Amino acid sequence: MTTDDDALNVNTAHTARVYDYYLGGKDHFKADRVAGEHAEQVHPHVRTSALENRKFMLRAVRHLAGQGVRQFLDIGTGIPTEPNLHQAAQEVAPAARVVYVDNDSLVLSHARALMTGTDEGRTTYVHADVRQPDSILTAPELLDTLDLSQPVAVSVIALAHFLDDPQDPFGIVAELMAAVPAGSYLVMSHATADFGPEMGEVARVYRESGMTAQVRTGDEFARFFSGLDLIDPGITTPHRWHPDIDPSEAMDGQVQFYAGVARKN
Ligand SMILES: C[S@@+](CC[C@H](N)C(=O)[O-])C[C@H]1O[C@@H](n2cnc3c(N)ncnc32)[C@H](O)[C@@H]1O
Repeated sequence: MTTDDDALNVNTAHTARVYDYYLGGKDHFKADRVAGEHAEQVHPHVRTSALENRKFMLRAVRHLAGQGVRQFLDIGTGIPTEPNLHQAAQEVAPAARVVYVDNDSLVLSHARALMTGTDEGRTTYVHADVRQPDSILTAPELLDTLDLSQPVAVSVIALAHFLDDPQDPFGIVAELMAAVPAGSYLVMSHATADFGPEMGEVARVYRESGMTAQVRTGDEFARFFSGLDLIDPGITTPHRWHPDIDPSEAMDGQVQFYAGVARKN
């Protein structure tokens, strides 16, 4: 079970650190590497999924900044990996404001690296658990940085698959979106076994390594966007969401994730 992780436990694999292993970072421990290697055995392209997911995040943020969005709330941020979300947003809109949220103590220890925004913009970090959305929405750091009466892009990227159904990820996302006004966006990605059984096996490896993990179908992923209007191209895979270059067809079986962006109207 993933717990609110105030103490750094290096003997148990953690989702942020296994992801750092996939992305080629240095901020993980032996337990994370072992879990990551095991995941790669059952899904040799799991690293491609992670890399394409990260690229989707950057493209979606640049796209929304280009549409005029100036406030970003990124939940389940991960260990800083350049470029980070605020860099993508502030490259397009230097005055963009970004609030990062994660519950991993290692991410907290690196939070300073996330707060290097432009002079005009601002970034801040909230150490909180998405399972308590209210603790995020009422955090003084958030309220100092974002004006919740103005549109916000809420990103929950590669996070909801770490919440199983009893933890009600659908209710959590709905609560977050209820707190932001019309003109806001939801940006999400999620692991799935719809494109092959491998990602389901990865979820099993995660559970056996002590983490909570649940893949979801396309229909289940679509439920997160209930009441919102998906923007073009709708629900797709990360590498096919406004790609910079045409992706190879081989990637379609490799990237076992869904991605989508929707507007609250
Ligand atoms: C796979 S990483 C994704 C990082 C980033 N969003 C991306 O897509 O590049 C998942 C992140 O979600 C965080 N996370 C997992 N459970 C969480 C929870 N209950 N509350 C807040 N963050 C959580 C992990 O610590 C980790 O940093």
